[in-house]
Amino acid sequence: MTKNFVVIDRKIKKFNKKIDVDGDKSLSIRWALLASQTLGMSKAKNLLKSEDVQNTLNCLRKLGVKIIQKGNVCSIIGRGLNGFIFKKNITLNAGNSGTLGRLILSLLIRSPYKIKLTGDKSLSRRDFSRVIKPLEKIGVNFYPKNRFNLPIYIKGTNYLRPIEYVENKGSAQCKTCVMLASLNVPGTTKITAKKSRDHTENIFKTLNIPIKIKKKLNYDFITLSKPKIIKKFNFNVPGDISSASFFIVLTLLSKDSKIILKNININSTRIGIIKILNMMGAKIKFKNIRVISGEKCSDIEVKSVKRLKSINCPTSLNSAAIDEFMIIFLVAAKANGISYFKDLSELNQKESPRLKVAANILKNMGVKLNYDDSSIKIYGNPGLELNKKIVIKNFLKDHRIFMMSVISALSFGGCWKIHDPISIKTSFPSFFKKIKEIGGVIK
Ligand code: S3P
Repeated sequence: MTKNFVVIDRKIKKFNKKIDVDGDKSLSIRWALLASQTLGMSKAKNLLKSEDVQNTLNCLRKLGVKIIQKGNVCSIIGRGLNGFIFKKNITLNAGNSGTLGRLILSLLIRSPYKIKLTGDKSLSRRDFSRVIKPLEKIGVNFYPKNRFNLPIYIKGTNYLRPIEYVENKGSAQCKTCVMLASLNVPGTTKITAKKSRDHTENIFKTLNIPIKIKKKLNYDFITLSKPKIIKKFNFNVPGDISSASFFIVLTLLSKDSKIILKNININSTRIGIIKILNMMGAKIKFKNIRVISGEKCSDIEVKSVKRLKSINCPTSLNSAAIDEFMIIFLVAAKANGISYFKDLSELNQKESPRLKVAANILKNMGVKLNYDDSSIKIYGNPGLELNKKIVIKNFLKDHRIFMMSVISALSFGGCWKIHDPISIKTSFPSFFKKIKEIGGVIK
């Protein structure tokens, strides 16, 4: 695709399809980072082939890790804990990925040299104080002092100390950053973490890394101690629920349609969207549930419904649906009644200020709403149909804003010109292919 925009001027016709989606981004990045710390060759099948993951592999290569990508299998030859080859003047580029940028820092905490971390325009406006501060407490140095955005320099030390860390945002990136750091910190690291996706905990358990977890209603208490070695491990990456969600919502908003999404990760800390949509009247089902590589997976069956209900969304589901709220808002726009979503200031900390950008798109579509820095109230209209021109641009090339706009165009009609299609490469390179497979027309 060479144009820097796409045009969509017709709704999708009814469909009945079975598709798969690309591999899970969170799991792909975690596997690669952890495999680099093991001894020997680890292999992953169906690793996501997106820019965020490619940037992860490129960073690891710069740190002396050998990686072989052949067809659907990626092999990483780890050199053991803190086995990176640290050299002078290394620059690592995290591209668009907050997860990579924040997590890789925790593997550099023993570097004898300064390492520069950079990112693209979107990542360079995002907050890094949330990981710099706990890592500084562990003993790590950052330059320039009191700078909390990329580019920054990190310099490690051999004098690391264990910390007691409280993670209050429900951010899996912050929690994981301290967890990965603990692999190199002597003594016991203690984390009190507001609930968030628990993939790192699952991988630690699979790898026999010493971890204890006490689960309470809203928080988990995690205790970690430094392992001696980490054994190589193979991984089968399931489909990404965040990518599947675009098709779940498209099906719900289309007439007389059905979709089965094959082999999707349905970890309970990731399925906030399913719980929310079922509360809104959907009847989404998990079929053929199994556990693969320590993660719960299933096929997901979705059918269109006649009536969608509004929701007063429980904030306890915020973290488990954090990347899906923009498309949930589309469902709220068509639901019967007024929907409320609260405590969502973290949405404005993503690849773009998503609460603000999504609210502006909805307004542009003629949806009545009120919003502030952390909440939104959407007045649903079950008869919502668009008959106007809509242009979507200047959203910092945020992949999820792009895909939300495509789903909106295919569901509500109108004539849409949506900029920056290249953004899908961040997380879901086969997005257009899948849309075509179910009959969507994108020009
Ligand atoms: C991610 C955690 C979430 C999410 C991001 C991926 C992860 O970010 O938005 O897309 O893989 O840990 P926060 O932890 O900052 O909420």
